[in-house]
Amino acid sequence: MDFKDRVIFITGASDGIGKQLAIELAACGAVVVGCGRSRDRLVETLKEVRKFSPKSLMIACDIGDAEQVHGMMKKVLADFGRIDILINNAGIGMRKPFVDTPVETIEAVMRTNYLGAVYCTHEVLPAMIARGSGHIVNISSGAGKIGTLNMAAYCASKFAMNGWSESLYHELKPLGVNVSVVCPGPVSTQFSHEFEDSEPKSPPQLFINVAAVSRAVMRAIENNQFEVVMPRWLALMCALKRFAPGLFRAIALRRFRSYVKIPARVAISPEFPGN
Ligand SMILES: NC(=O)c1ccc[n+]([C@@H]2O[C@H](COP(=O)([O-])OP(=O)(O)OC[C@H]3O[C@@H](n4cnc5c(N)ncnc54)[C@H](OP(=O)(O)O)[C@@H]3O)[C@@H](O)[C@H]2O)c1
Repeated sequence: MDFKDRVIFITGASDGIGKQLAIELAACGAVVVGCGRSRDRLVETLKEVRKFSPKSLMIACDIGDAEQVHGMMKKVLADFGRIDILINNAGIGMRKPFVDTPVETIEAVMRTNYLGAVYCTHEVLPAMIARGSGHIVNISSGAGKIGTLNMAAYCASKFAMNGWSESLYHELKPLGVNVSVVCPGPVSTQFSHEFEDSEPKSPPQLFINVAAVSRAVMRAIENNQFEVVMPRWLALMCALKRFAPGLFRAIALRRFRSYVKIPARVAISPEFPGN
């Protein structure tokens, strides 16, 4: 696909994978419209993006707020006439045993990672369907393929995104709108640095960089690929889980077992023996 003059909307364009995508797509001639919550970081991204694509724009918006998303998308569709490609990338993480994760955190993770993508897609799809063309790209995670210790809320949001993407694929392909879901393993961004002190840690050699993810996303769009799981070791793990689920669970349980502790909320409870 030629990205020149395509209008591409990227959520979470102010940092990490989204920022890299914004710059690379602008360098290919796309008009990039991005959003994020922090205005300061959006300004930094916009400076980089406008070096290649002067019409590009960044908008402050919390995608977890359906009304803000409605206002933003209405304005973008009015100003730019169309959105050719929507990249649902914005996301937040967490790492805590489920019992110790406040319900507010679980709700915030689901609201940003899953509902945020739903709100944005709901706003842009009618025009894509009417035109009979468009592409929705969902940035999920390896945690959307494999349930991981201490990441229950995050995994739930990404599994939701994967199931939703598969349904959308069947609904939209016959109408001319493509859907891709990209599931990367650990990526070196601020997102992963925030959790580098919590267990289980990903070994540094397993991290990939934002440029590799950005290239994979652009290839998925160009080749109309539905699902991308990367890097290769993660794709192999997903294949093992699919074809030998019992063996996979036994290996994972062995690997994770040493990280399991009595959750803090239980340890301080008067019912816990020893208190
Ligand atoms: N890093 C990894 O290891 C990894 C691995 C697999 C998948 N992923 C996924 O890749 C995506 C991007 O992650 P990243 O590593 O690039 O993270 P990042 O560097 O932390 O960037 C996240 C971006 O999302 C924006 N964002 C967060 N909450 C938002 C909200 N409510 N509304 C609007 N924008 C919001 C952030 O901007 P503001 O904070 O200013 O809003 C920022 O621009 C996420 O969906 C993540 O789940 C990451």
